[in-house]
Amino acid sequence: MKNIVILISGGGSNMAAIVRHAEQAGWARRFGARVSAVVSNKADAKGLQFAREHHLATAVLDHKAFPSREAFDAALMAEIDRLGGAGSEADQPALVVLAGFMRILTPGFVAHYAGRLVNIHPSLLPAFPGLHTHQRALDMGCKFAGATVHQVTAELDHGEILEQAVVPVLPHDTADTLAARVLTQEHLIYPRAIERLLAGLA
Ligand code: GAR
Repeated sequence: MKNIVILISGGGSNMAAIVRHAEQAGWARRFGARVSAVVSNKADAKGLQFAREHHLATAVLDHKAFPSREAFDAALMAEIDRLGGAGSEADQPALVVLAGFMRILTPGFVAHYAGRLVNIHPSLLPAFPGLHTHQRALDMGCKFAGATVHQVTAELDHGEILEQAVVPVLPHDTADTLAARVLTQEHLIYPRAIERLLAGLA
C-alpha cells in the first residue's frame, strides 16, 4: 500500500474531502493508495473527530510542548514516518499532505519529504503568500481570488503549482464569505491534484 499522511490544525474539511474522494474514486484499487493517518498539532482540531469516525490512525503533537521548531519537526517526522510506514511497501509515506496545517516547516523537514510534500493555500499564488489572504485580496480590490495546490519547498507558499481554482470576488464580500467560496473549490482541486500525483507514482 502507498500510504498518505494528512496534517491538519483545524476544521479538516480539505482532509475530509480527500478521504471521501479516495473512497469514492477507488484509490486503493486504482493506485494501491490510501489515506492511512491524520496528524494534528492541536488536540482540539475538529478534523480529528472525522478521522476517528473513518477509522484512520490519528496522532496529536502539540508544538508548544517542544523547545524549538527543529525539535518539533524532528518529532513530527518520526511520527509521520511511523504512521506512514505501517503496512506500506516503502516503510515511508508515499505522500504527506498539508491540509490547513498552520505551521512553518524547517528546511530539514521539507528536504526529508522532497517531492512527496504538498500544500493547499487559499490564494492564487504567487499572490498573497502567508496569512490573511482573503482580507488582503479584498483590500487590494482583487476581482478574482482562489486557491492553489503546490509542491512544498523551503520557501513559504512557494513551489511548483499543481492545481488552481479561481472564484469571483463579489461586491459585498467579507473575508468570511470569500473564504467560504474559495474553500468549496479547495475541496475539488485538492483531491484532484493528489489523484494526479498518485497516477504518476503508479
Ligand atoms: C483552508 O482554506 C486552507 O487553504 C488554509 O486553511 C484552511 C483550512 O481549512 N490553509 C492555509 O492557510 C495554509 N497557509 P480546513 O481545515 O477546513 O481544510
